[in-house]
Amino acid sequence: MSDLAPSAIALPEVEINIVKVKAPVEATIVESYIATHSSSPNFIRHITFDVSGTPLEGKFVSGQSIGVLAPGVDESGKPHKLRLYSVSSPSGGEGGNPGLVSTTVKRVIDEHWETQDLFTGVCSNYLSSLKPGDKVMVTGPSGKSFLLPERPQDFHYVFFATGTGIAPFRAMILDLLQRGITSQIALVFGCPYRTDLLYFEDFKKLDQEHDHIHYITVISREGSRPDGTKPYVQTAIIDQADILQPILTQPNTLIYICGLKGMESGIYSLLMEQGIGGYCELSSDLVGKDPSSWTREERKNAYKASERTFVEVY
Ligand code: FAD
Ligand code: A2P
Repeated sequence: MSDLAPSAIALPEVEINIVKVKAPVEATIVESYIATHSSSPNFIRHITFDVSGTPLEGKFVSGQSIGVLAPGVDESGKPHKLRLYSVSSPSGGEGGNPGLVSTTVKRVIDEHWETQDLFTGVCSNYLSSLKPGDKVMVTGPSGKSFLLPERPQDFHYVFFATGTGIAPFRAMILDLLQRGITSQIALVFGCPYRTDLLYFEDFKKLDQEHDHIHYITVISREGSRPDGTKPYVQTAIIDQADILQPILTQPNTLIYICGLKGMESGIYSLLMEQGIGGYCELSSDLVGKDPSSWTREERKNAYKASERTFVEVY
């Protein structure tokens, strides 16, 4: 590992929008399985598309997303808008096959906020109901900034994920392993119940087989922390300090955040509270202002990511 300064972080040039919404290509579903424990009340699937023979073959890089067009029209009669799904297969394709691209999809199911009727998200439910052999219209690749660095061997990594935010990290960690990278890699995964742990057996095995891989799970609804607060991915910075703080305090560690929108500000606040610098900067509006006087909105937007932090929240 060289002594590259963080200012030297360069991302690889990647191709985007090879296949656009106006001319999507047809992919075939080859695999779809529940990626949580079978008793989870949520439905989250690992879904693999075959894009062989299309311009998308071999083109997705870990950290990018694939676009999916659900058939049919929305309430205004227009075709459904494109939805993006992070690729969870490594850059060489699922199982090393460049024609196979995977993602991790959660069915959006709820009561409608206003009408109280059953609310089912259009594209996640369409995708989750597809069976091997079914066809689906896809686009991509999308995204050029949530990527591993060009010289991944120069850095350590802490990946923070909630829910399906784990998708790009499955891809990135498999990429790092395939490239023989031996720097420190920590994955902190948060979900409501133990039954919602995604790819649990796979990550447990990686943790057991590799001294440099650390898999930390944070279950938010099965108990509280000693001070009564909920365990969230950011609280692992304190609760698993023996593993995380030696990595986070290295000058060449990068953090990646993916999943729920709210997690980003929570991670920055906790890093700052713990005196771990380098990953975020105080917003210029708040410089010199007493933190106890910050409004709720100001607290939410208090810190901005530095170049050592990569964020994809939705
Ligand atoms: P929609 O029909 O679009 O409904 C969802 C929308 O309805 C929400 O935006 C919300 O405004 C509204 N809504 C939600 N709940 C209710 C409710 N109870 N009552 C009323 N309105 C409600 N998702 C994944 O599962 N896996 C991924 O890997 C993934 N990666 C992503 C990567 C990126 C870069 C982005 C931007 C998003 C990603 N998503 C991912 C989210 C995905 O794109 C879709 O937004 C998600 O699947 C919901 O789409 P849908 O068509 O099923 O729901
Ligand atoms: P909870 O819902 O118990 O408050 P999923 O996507 O499967 O619902 O998981 C999201 C996970 O992220 C849950 O454990 C959820 O906890 C947790 N969570 C909710 N809000 C935040 C936040 N602001 N920061 C970090 N984690 C959060």
